[in-house]
Amino acid sequence: MKVLVFCILLCSVFSMKAQNYQCFSPGQLWKDNNGVHINAHGGGMLIYKKTYYWFGEHKIEGKTGNTAQVGVHCYSSKDLYNWTDEGIALQVDDDMNSDIQKGCILERPKVIYNSKTKKFVMWFHLELKGNGYRSARAGIAIANKVTGPYRFIRSTRATPGCFPVNVDNNEIGGKHIYVRDLNNGQMVRDQQLFVDDDGVAYHIFASEDNRTLHIAELTDDYLDYTGKYVRVFEERYMEAPALFKKDGLYYFMGSGCTGWAPNAARSAVAPSIWGPWTELGNPCVGENSEKTFYSQSTYILPVQGKKNAFIYMGDRWKPNNPIDGRYIWLPIQFEENKFKIKWMDQWDLNFFSSEY
Ligand code: GAL
Repeated sequence: MKVLVFCILLCSVFSMKAQNYQCFSPGQLWKDNNGVHINAHGGGMLIYKKTYYWFGEHKIEGKTGNTAQVGVHCYSSKDLYNWTDEGIALQVDDDMNSDIQKGCILERPKVIYNSKTKKFVMWFHLELKGNGYRSARAGIAIANKVTGPYRFIRSTRATPGCFPVNVDNNEIGGKHIYVRDLNNGQMVRDQQLFVDDDGVAYHIFASEDNRTLHIAELTDDYLDYTGKYVRVFEERYMEAPALFKKDGLYYFMGSGCTGWAPNAARSAVAPSIWGPWTELGNPCVGENSEKTFYSQSTYILPVQGKKNAFIYMGDRWKPNNPIDGRYIWLPIQFEENKFKIKWMDQWDLNFFSSEY
């Protein structure tokens, strides 16, 4: 009897204890330290003091979950498998005069650390409440502590009054959407941040009604645009941009433009962030590769302490019940100057050391 009671006690202690993951299982529920499925969709990663911080959209149940009811959620991890809930880093506002009023659309938040100002800076795609996807703005927030609270500073269109550096001045009279938007600023939808080795940060976003991507340089404090930007992948409707750098080359991954429905991913390479960008086709290989394994890119994560180890982070959206969205993490593999992504039911970080 005593043994039985002891066993029951032991079992209940273990079931209360958080999961101890030893591997990635793409598409499965992924529980945090409280046993709750991680709620950080359209996310990005910051590595700070040897810890990974995952920031993403906090979604709720039902279709309302496609709008921002809570804010940006933050988790931390040392090993990438097991995540601690760090709470809401940026909260939406109850004040109806705020740009980030509860019920706005706040997507794809990304956080970078500015070593000059010692501040954490968050950028996100913002659609003002009740305006569908017509506002197409960037939101900017700042914090003294990595996990927040982040203070919303302002929202803006991109690079107002500035002409792209890679087009001819005589296009000014043209019909391009960027010409229409020169004065008020360029549209910002799916977005990414990238900090180069020299500390210069860039904002990469779907612009011109999603037709053409823009890459814009940020000021030293990461809080504004310098005004220098390029238009890339003209009329290619690239969304979900993610960027990484390997051996001095810049690699891009993105998706086509089909809303929440998955499509074939795209990839590209460039010798400089300013281009020229050469498309490399769909990096996904094998079954369901034409649907990016039912996911859409959100970030490409360089793994700490491993050379040339990068993880594809994607979202398997569930637009009818967004809180149940799943995370598809897969290793990036390099083959003949291209990168490839193959499906794996389960894998762990030893994959990298064994292959490279
Ligand atoms: C996707 C985009 C998501 C969200 C969605 C809305 O293409 O990547 O972030 O904006 O469209 O339909």
